[in-house]
Amino acid sequence: MKKELNKIAKDTNLFLKSFIKKQRKSKLIVPMQYGLFSGGKKIRSKILIDIGSLFKINYKSLIIIGSAVECIHAYSLIHDDLPCMDNDSIRRGKAATHIKFGESTAVLAGNSLLTMAFEILSHKDLNVSEKIKLNLINKISETSGHLGIAGGQYLDLSYERKKVSKKKVVEMEIKKTGKLFSFCCATPLILKKKNKTEIKKFENIGADIGLLFQIADDLIDHKGDLLNAGKKTGKDKKKGKATLISLLGYKNTIKYANELIFRINNKLKKYGPKSKNLSITLNYILNRKK
Ligand code: IPE
Ligand code: IPE
Ligand code: MG
Ligand code: MG
Ligand code: MG
Repeated sequence: MKKELNKIAKDTNLFLKSFIKKQRKSKLIVPMQYGLFSGGKKIRSKILIDIGSLFKINYKSLIIIGSAVECIHAYSLIHDDLPCMDNDSIRRGKAATHIKFGESTAVLAGNSLLTMAFEILSHKDLNVSEKIKLNLINKISETSGHLGIAGGQYLDLSYERKKVSKKKVVEMEIKKTGKLFSFCCATPLILKKKNKTEIKKFENIGADIGLLFQIADDLIDHKGDLLNAGKKTGKDKKKGKATLISLLGYKNTIKYANELIFRINNKLKKYGPKSKNLSITLNYILNRKK
């Protein structure tokens, strides 16, 4: 699992580096590269590859689409750490982008990474039909905006120090984190021109995986440490973040996460041994230390 994840991270970074190299230079390139290449796991690309393997999708296309996803993810982290949001100074064991380059530069580098995702998906390097590209761009836009990451981040901040129901916490976590995973899970079906119902099914699986991922991230914040996590921990409690841990407690949250894994595996059963990789990834997501 670790070996495969490293290979995917390496291939994604190689694609992104060559994509950026082909562009003209600007002052924002350095902070953008800092946000992209300072050591993320590239787990979203791994999910793309795992689901892609159920449908025999070409690896190179998945790496390109994963690169676009990672641009959006990197942007969301740069903005998430800003003083007006989570006000965090350490990311991936290094200074957060705004600490290293200043706030305005971090905002602009984040914006540029978001739009670079659309450049990548619309570029000729991605060898799929224009209709499919349009579909992908439409989906990833929705994923990033007020119905997805941005909307979820808004809710995350507005729920601080408030008593919020479990349903609302789950909805918030699915928006801020789950939707990008939904995009990853739907992509192979979009590439295979599957129908809307099939696509929706995989979007739902993606939402569950993303929820699991965010719960695991919340568990790391609760019990993990800076050295392993690469970011300060114990901050969610300090900030009064609404999480499942704050509602259900630590043990019940782990139980909830394990039930989620069971539910996802059940939905994947019909794909037989091919879904084994994804199951392994799910266990990695819950048990990781960073
Ligand atoms: C952290 O994401 C933020 C969340 C959405 C929970 P990752 O844990 O995927 O961050 P990196 O890219 O591996 O650092
Ligand atoms: C971030 O969630 C979710 C995003 C969409 C960026 P967190 O705020 O919990 O992520 P960390 O813990 O700072 O990485
Ligand atoms: Mg946050
Ligand atoms: Mg944060
Ligand atoms: Mg967190």
